[in-house]
Amino acid sequence: MANRDDDLNDPKFKRRSQIWFGKHDKDGFAHRSWMKNQGHPNDLFDGRPVIGICNTWSELNPCNAHFREIAEFVKKGVWEAGGWPLEFPVMSLGEVLLRPTAMLWRNLASMDVEESIRGNPMDGVVLLMGCDKTTPSLIMGAASCDLPTIGLSGGPMLNGRYKKEILGSGTGVWQMSEKVRGGHMKIEEFMDAEAGMHRSKGHCMTMGTASTMASMVESLGLSLPGNAAIPAVDAQRYRLAQLTGRRIVEMVKQDVRLSHILTRKAFENAIKTLAAIGGSTNAVVHLLAMAGRIGVPLKLDDFELGSKMPDLVDIQPSGKYLMEDFYYAGGLPAVLKEIGDHLHKDAMTANGKTIWDNVKDAECFDRNVIRELNNPFMPNAGITILRGNLAPNGAVIKPSAATAHLLQHRGKAVVFETIEELHARINDESLDIDENSVMVLKNCGPKGYPGMAEVGNMPLPPKVLRKGISDMVRVSDARMSGTAYGTVVLHAAPEAAAGGPLAFVQTGDYVELDTAGRALKLEVSDADLARRKEGWTTPKPWLDRGYVRLYVDHVMGADTGADLDFLIGKSGTPVPRESH
Ligand code: FES
Repeated sequence: MANRDDDLNDPKFKRRSQIWFGKHDKDGFAHRSWMKNQGHPNDLFDGRPVIGICNTWSELNPCNAHFREIAEFVKKGVWEAGGWPLEFPVMSLGEVLLRPTAMLWRNLASMDVEESIRGNPMDGVVLLMGCDKTTPSLIMGAASCDLPTIGLSGGPMLNGRYKKEILGSGTGVWQMSEKVRGGHMKIEEFMDAEAGMHRSKGHCMTMGTASTMASMVESLGLSLPGNAAIPAVDAQRYRLAQLTGRRIVEMVKQDVRLSHILTRKAFENAIKTLAAIGGSTNAVVHLLAMAGRIGVPLKLDDFELGSKMPDLVDIQPSGKYLMEDFYYAGGLPAVLKEIGDHLHKDAMTANGKTIWDNVKDAECFDRNVIRELNNPFMPNAGITILRGNLAPNGAVIKPSAATAHLLQHRGKAVVFETIEELHARINDESLDIDENSVMVLKNCGPKGYPGMAEVGNMPLPPKVLRKGISDMVRVSDARMSGTAYGTVVLHAAPEAAAGGPLAFVQTGDYVELDTAGRALKLEVSDADLARRKEGWTTPKPWLDRGYVRLYVDHVMGADTGADLDFLIGKSGTPVPRESH
């Protein structure tokens, strides 16, 4: 019997899947025979492209709960194009239920995806993605294998409505909860709004992390055009799924691999698009991690490429409208056309055309939602990278979600050592804090939380809210929900739990945020910081075994994407040994 390591070089195995299905020995018998228990006829094993449909369906992840329906349309398309679709489940990370934070499991899910692809007989993959972390985890895992791969998002929910109000998921919750805390809304009304906020299948319909990442997928060229904005319940979403199924078969035949699409040019296009849509700060860690897997050198400072780009889309959390409106206005193709001169027009996409070919004829149907480049919703709105002695490896701020006058601010720190301390003290009327203070939260980074939770947009103290003030400068090593807003400095690196300077800030220290100067300064001398560090020890994680132990030991900083150090790079799809 041939050495299995040589199988991929053997011309008789035209496709990777044929190493399983194409042999006339006991192994080939086993692989075909067991699959036949699902009723598959003999001719399916004839060397046609086998397409894995990587499905993040789960009833515990409401944003992806419709994915089995979407998968059926992908399968139709695969069959039509002469392929053989085989759907498989991977860990589904739902943002609203998973504790302590879905981000803790992003890298684990990516390992599930990578090994599921590598260990199985597939020639190409369709990634079904929706809720925030399902998009980066699937792309990271697939990038480490580098088979022909296409992305398909599940689509956003319809606009939320309560009484006369349009409600954006996430953003509306933060707004209403602060109204309740400030005494401006009854708790009964707050509870009533629950059923109106989420009215259909799909993921959050603000430009939160899920919609941002779906837009990243489209701007990277990983999906068919139009993927980002079509609502989950629109028939067009199902047509797109069917066309995606057809296209992946062609991609296998043409051997269009993920590394042919995920190039440096594609990432630069995505960074500029991120700015033009007013997208989530979470895209920073996810794009860095995806680039690390595929082998594209991308650095935190590269996000400055978008810092001068205007925000063209008036959408929550920075603006007024929601994804349904964005879709009716022309969706991402209309934005990409508008910023075309800033893009690498020749970047190749999954449909075999360049990104410019895909969008050059795109139309905008509502200039209230998608503005023109010379009349933007907000100028210079891209995510900004800050550095200084409080974040030597960098921190991020989203100016489009901030209060303009707070972008330059100096104030006294009020420090919370942990998220529990914040919750215990924030409602205390005797807390020495006012609107000029700078709230500082520690130990919420990748190692510290662990998992880098979305807690950076700390709730404001009620005594400040009662004055009608809704924003203060906040600094942490945490992330922030893409649906949140405020003058919030995030991802400070190195994080507190890794011994970064953030760990040694004390209440009463002065902190200066200078967004225009790209600086975040702590007015404490290096010598004093060194003295404060004496005797400091790493905090213990809440669980000291299993994956959490592995994560804490190996997770890298937010400034490099918070991936596990041993997952960087790709190892391709060598065919593993047989077990029988
Ligand atoms: Fe899933 Fe917002 S909770 S996308």
